[in-house]
Amino acid sequence: LLIDASQASARPISDTLFGIFFEEINHAGAGGVWAELVSNRGFEAGGPNTPSNIDPWAIIGNESFLIVSTDRSSCFDRNKVALRMEVLCDTQGANSCPAGGVGIYNPGFWGMNIEKGKTYNAVLYVRSSGSINVSVSLTGSDGLQKLAAANIIASGSEVSNWTKFEVQLEAQGTNPNSRLQLTTTSKGVIWFDQVSAIPLDTYKGHGFRKDLVQMLADLKPRFFRFPGGCFVEGEWLRNAFRWKETIGPWEERPGHFGDVWKYWTDDGLGYFEFLQLSEDLGSLPIWVFNNGISHNDQVDTSSVLPFVQEALDGIEFARGSPNSTWGSLRAAMGHPEPFDLRYVAIGNEDCGKKNYRGNYLKFFSAIRNAYPDIKMISNCDGSSRQLDHPADMYDFHIYTSASNLFSMANHFDHTSRNGPKAFVSEYAVTGKDAGRGSLLAALAEAGFLIGLEKNSDIVESGHLRPPLRQHDRRWNPDAIVFDSSQLYGTPSYWVQCLFNESSGATLYNSTLQMNSSTPLLASAISWQNSENENTYLRIKVVNLGTDTVNLKVFVDGLDPNSISLSGSTKTVLTSNNQMDENSFNEPTKVIPKQSLLESASEEMEVVISPRSFTSIDLLM
Ligand code: AHR
Repeated sequence: LLIDASQASARPISDTLFGIFFEEINHAGAGGVWAELVSNRGFEAGGPNTPSNIDPWAIIGNESFLIVSTDRSSCFDRNKVALRMEVLCDTQGANSCPAGGVGIYNPGFWGMNIEKGKTYNAVLYVRSSGSINVSVSLTGSDGLQKLAAANIIASGSEVSNWTKFEVQLEAQGTNPNSRLQLTTTSKGVIWFDQVSAIPLDTYKGHGFRKDLVQMLADLKPRFFRFPGGCFVEGEWLRNAFRWKETIGPWEERPGHFGDVWKYWTDDGLGYFEFLQLSEDLGSLPIWVFNNGISHNDQVDTSSVLPFVQEALDGIEFARGSPNSTWGSLRAAMGHPEPFDLRYVAIGNEDCGKKNYRGNYLKFFSAIRNAYPDIKMISNCDGSSRQLDHPADMYDFHIYTSASNLFSMANHFDHTSRNGPKAFVSEYAVTGKDAGRGSLLAALAEAGFLIGLEKNSDIVESGHLRPPLRQHDRRWNPDAIVFDSSQLYGTPSYWVQCLFNESSGATLYNSTLQMNSSTPLLASAISWQNSENENTYLRIKVVNLGTDTVNLKVFVDGLDPNSISLSGSTKTVLTSNNQMDENSFNEPTKVIPKQSLLESASEEMEVVISPRSFTSIDLLM
């Protein structure tokens, strides 16, 4: 491997090279990074008609003790469904309620993680025909293990209209499979609505699940693309993500059924929260909005203007002054400063569709007029041919086999340098090579990323995919696997971690001279560690083959003796089998392992293991 580390070969890599693609898919948001523990908190998931399905809420007690149904009596205009609970038993007498009371419980998203010593804030709206005495408790999945409880006691006049109650529950025990119970032993009719339970301790206090978001933050993402993906489009437009329905007080949000990934979301993680999450991660938001096109229906270009206005309003919400119509709503939600929205994507994967070009042009000219600095991303691939419409960037998605993706490391080598830049917002190995997050997939992705790094003059960004919920693996594989209490990175996650210093680094020319056909790719960058201000030459090598490679590395163009042995490291991601993957039982089976280098100089030999990704940091 010949590396030319001279000034003449140095090229700056865009400061925004690598980011995250976050989609509301596999419960990555609802039941994932959004720390709300209650699933279907407003009882709306069954649809607006009543009686309605209240799943996953369930009833404690049988029909001789209580009758549970839904009606449309909520105080919230945009989500009218409320739960009506008629308690037939009473505190004492012949028809007394069971000792633990009767009521309803919510198991959250496949069990709530309740941890001893932590406090959970529960909010609920209540109305009743008389006085109430309701126990709000966190229990184990059988209702027997009591973890925390508080009582809501109110006279009939206090709850004759809808009333908000808020209690803090401090857990006395730990159980990752807990539930929230609302129970009573008193006869009467009680209505419940908008029941929430959320840990007090969330990432930056903004309602995000700490451990999951920390893993996202560790990727040092420069971009955060949200909220999809197909989630933006919907199977049908009526089920697409529409930002105005997802802002304001959470109790008033209608929620919606994401019909592509087939689950309901209360939209607690709404447009504002996505922008907040981008900011908390230190990344630039990329808002993908619906362009009047879903998987199955399309708005004609002649009537797309309301959609265009919706996008303009969304931009104003994100970055308009607190005195503007939509900016004032953002300010009222606690963020008077504008969010740093500089990029939007006009639709997702809609390029081939009948109305795309027409609709796109309407969005493009309206946004360019109102916000000349906003960069717009087209859905059409401009890497192999010129776009037939104006764009600042074009979206590039690739899901394929390991060998294909690895060979696509050269894909952008011959792309014209004059047109818009590529925005590689989705890439992954899929199919049988992917397993459930295999080493093989990760290595092929590493090869592809090396290609992006080398073409960073024309590639603006490459994006790792979202986290994935263990119980909802509709889309496979993803970067982080989690359940209520555990999580681990797939090898793909760890590969992207080894690229997290590339954004803003300096790229050097490097050439591999091989006397075998081993599939090998390499790159060289220099980067500065902001903590100790040391500069490193990072050499990354992917070996997709099954042979060990004794790689001779020659670094040219550095001052002699500028490489220091102490502090130079080698980090290797490999495993015995190419289909090895991590799991809850073995979360660290395939993770990078770092060691100090035994020799480091301008000329050295490095042993590259079969099926491995090696990152060498030479301290300069
Ligand atoms: O990442 C999953 C899906 O793959 C995205 O929603 C879509 O953009 C792509 O087809």
